[in-house]
Amino acid sequence: MTFLSAALDRVKPSATIAVTDKARELKAAGRNVIGLGSGEPDFDTPANIKLAAIHAIEAGKTKYTAVDGIPELKQAIIAKFKRENSLDYKPNQIIVGTGGKQVLYNALVATLNPGDEVIIPAPYWVSYPEMVALAGGESVPVICTAEFGFKLQPAALEAAITPKTKWVILNSPSNPTGAAYSHAELKALTDVLVKHPQVWVMTDDMYEHLVYDDFVFTTPAQIEPKLFDRTLTVNGVSKAYCMTGWRIGYAGGPAPLIKAMTTIQSQSTSNPSSIAQWAAVEALNGPQDFIPTHNKVFKERRDLVVSMLNQAGGIDCPRPEGAFYVYPSCAGTIGKTAPSGKLIENDQDFVTELLEAEGVAVVQGSAFGLGPAFRISYATKTADLEEACKRIQRFCGNLR
Ligand SMILES: Cc1ncc(COP(=O)(O)O)c(C=O)c1O
Repeated sequence: MTFLSAALDRVKPSATIAVTDKARELKAAGRNVIGLGSGEPDFDTPANIKLAAIHAIEAGKTKYTAVDGIPELKQAIIAKFKRENSLDYKPNQIIVGTGGKQVLYNALVATLNPGDEVIIPAPYWVSYPEMVALAGGESVPVICTAEFGFKLQPAALEAAITPKTKWVILNSPSNPTGAAYSHAELKALTDVLVKHPQVWVMTDDMYEHLVYDDFVFTTPAQIEPKLFDRTLTVNGVSKAYCMTGWRIGYAGGPAPLIKAMTTIQSQSTSNPSSIAQWAAVEALNGPQDFIPTHNKVFKERRDLVVSMLNQAGGIDCPRPEGAFYVYPSCAGTIGKTAPSGKLIENDQDFVTELLEAEGVAVVQGSAFGLGPAFRISYATKTADLEEACKRIQRFCGNLR
């Protein structure tokens, strides 16, 4: 349609949202569908956080706030960065946005000129390349295979850097693979980046708290202080605090970048919800003890899913360090025929046939830049996960 902007030609709708919608449609039509597509915890927002929002409403904290966040939340974020990441930020180095998504988007819009390149390790979160395209830049995907735990290797990073590289986006633990970089693995990457002063680091630490088996989380600016002045450390309350609907994300970074991002935000959405900001103050300053409680459940689910999927014919499922995703390969099913008679030629066919035959909704790996594979979100009731894995085993067993 010619009325629409040419920018739309550069952007794909979200594959993860598409799967969730399709699963909802089938459910509405009476099918028994288990949706493993959506990336949000099934746990409710903790009660103390909800109460903080209710108190904010009752106290009339319902007006516009500073565009980049209320001072109380900025202080809570500064304290969090200090406490958990040994990073020292000042208030003018912090921005709060409407979800981590808006913070990332603002940073790209505020910095990219036509032709600027952004290195994105693949598999990647679906939104990175689309945001880069919307902001007018060029994404440079670098394939990171299961052989290396889906992690960017220093030589591959070095090879992808050009004079036009503006950002590298790192996401650990990762959506979609759950892979998380150890201190040593991240240090090997920051050693490369130190040599290339034109390259800035956008680190998406959204899943920081969701790590298992004594894994220790670290972030690039903490590991390499020489990168502090060209790193944007992005985080938020959506995942660990079960606050996906509240829409609060934040970042710490150099003051001129934060100022530019604030300008973009001031002319688009202004401040994030005042009520949600007060809830986020309580999330960051309040008790953190529910996080290990949730993680115990997530770890059990991860182990259950990995073990059951590895018993499905043609599926190979690595055990990731964090987040609430697994990213199994379905290479062993390609070339086989589904019960419907359809030949499975790629991972899109695999997920479509799985949904049709067994009512299990997962997302095809090709949407994340590396197939044939699929992503399962295990942020779902354990009983449903077990049933879904049984159905996947049956589906694979019925392929001919
Ligand atoms: C890797 C990653 N970054 C950022 C986000 C966005 O988080 P928010 O809901 O705070 O916008 C998500 C959410 O799915 C994510 O998976």
